[in-house]
Amino acid sequence: MTHWWQKGIVYQIYPRSFQDTNGDGIGDLHGIIQRLGYLHWLGIDAIWISPMYPSPMADFGYDISDYTDVHPMFGTLADMDELITAAHQRNIKVLLDFVPGHTSNQHPWFLESRSSRDNPKHDWYIWRDPAPDGGPPNNWLSRFDGKSGWTWDKNREQYYLHSFLAEQPDLNWRNPQVRETMLNVMRFWLDRGLDGFRVDVVYRVMKDPQLRDNPPNPDWREGMDPGHRLIEKYNKNTPDAHEFNRWLRAVTDEYDGRVLIGEINLPLPALVKHHGQNDEIHLPQNINLHDTTWEAEKIRALVEQYEALLPEGAWPNWVLGNHDQHRVATRIGQDQARVAMMLLLTLRGTPINYYGDELGMHDVAIPPEKIQDPWEIYSPGLGLGRDPERTPMQWDDTPNAGFCPPDVEPWLPVADDYAQNNVALARSRPDSMLTFTQKLIGLRRAAPALHIGEYRSLSAPLGLFAYLRAYGAERYVVVLNFTNREQVWPIPDEIGRLEIGLTTHLPNDKEIEGQQLSLHQNEGVVLKVAEA
Ligand code: NOJ
Repeated sequence: MTHWWQKGIVYQIYPRSFQDTNGDGIGDLHGIIQRLGYLHWLGIDAIWISPMYPSPMADFGYDISDYTDVHPMFGTLADMDELITAAHQRNIKVLLDFVPGHTSNQHPWFLESRSSRDNPKHDWYIWRDPAPDGGPPNNWLSRFDGKSGWTWDKNREQYYLHSFLAEQPDLNWRNPQVRETMLNVMRFWLDRGLDGFRVDVVYRVMKDPQLRDNPPNPDWREGMDPGHRLIEKYNKNTPDAHEFNRWLRAVTDEYDGRVLIGEINLPLPALVKHHGQNDEIHLPQNINLHDTTWEAEKIRALVEQYEALLPEGAWPNWVLGNHDQHRVATRIGQDQARVAMMLLLTLRGTPINYYGDELGMHDVAIPPEKIQDPWEIYSPGLGLGRDPERTPMQWDDTPNAGFCPPDVEPWLPVADDYAQNNVALARSRPDSMLTFTQKLIGLRRAAPALHIGEYRSLSAPLGLFAYLRAYGAERYVVVLNFTNREQVWPIPDEIGRLEIGLTTHLPNDKEIEGQQLSLHQNEGVVLKVAEA
């Protein structure tokens, strides 16, 4: 049986930036409801909404102060119920971000935990006495500033651990009460009809029980991400990360048809272990397309390595970007962004699309006085800030791009090309990236070979990446030109007659001449193998 999350496309919504309906310059749940028609037209199958819970917003919602409610800025619990119902009416599933690793330091659990050494929640977080010299218990670093990951609490006269900001204390999942309470948070949402979760830093929640020091990173140099000064050997991907995965999976399996996507930023050999024996994370998020040099040979090697490593029964997934990574169109350019979209939507595995990538939205340079992201604030000037990829969705050519009222200042500036690149205009243009993406999604949806078929690489000259997708008698070929020069793909003899399905360069002017396919620079083509 094939599950919906294997066939489907997941669309990530950063709720602050999608659609504002109450005029505060910040997106909200009603905004998402209002745009469900667009998402349905686009053809996606599920939305993943980044955190919308009550939060002091030290890390823009990844510092949660109540796991079972909605921040008033985004709406109410009733709005979330309405959103789930409205999405389901359009056959769109809804996933939320589940953040198990840390709460806000304003969460009542932490306030209680820090109140004394013997309160009922004293062990809900990772508290330790100082090292003999009075300093932090070990050398672990906070991911955002590369300083100690331990903060001294005057009241308890102890340190608490925070893998990210000091405002994000790490929960102690070795405490059974924490475990039970957090697993019940999952049930709370699943009972409301939620279709699953994207689990934040799932591979960082369990830490070495002995809290051993991390070794220095010999490759680190001044000017690099300060959070990489040490090799994170003991504070992430520890052996019992897998047991942790199984706890979450067991709860998910109490319900039919739900899915877990895990944020696991690891190289492929370590990543695929998080499938377990099909009893851990359904989709350990594969961010490696983002981290690999954008060359045909390198991407092909990556795909082949992944296909070879996946354990029996494990389902692949692919990501081009998210709210933590610079926009794909900025990284590889607008022209290659279309090639990347074709790759994302035709590889074997569940694609996860970041909002706006279907338009080719790019990073926006943020003036110093408008910077929001703590990563940029604490590690300035290193290009680590994430505001550039979190700017408002570009809906139309009115001031503020239809994201918020024209007289309201959006929480982050709108890209200055919004009048030329927005949903309303792009939908009306046959040659836009949006039109291309929507057509490609339609083609993928109609062709089992493209959404559940087998994958096989095909030979191709340098700079081209070609592969076959096959399901029963149905076969498709994808040829991608990663270069900015024209190229010819010699069609292998074993492949039958080909018909053009779709090209990145709409409207299509392609014809196949004999046994070869000519490609424009930066062009990708999906072809159907004619059935005999
Ligand atoms: C990973 C999230 O994707 C990121 O946005 C956040 O800052 C960290 N986890 C901390 O929660």
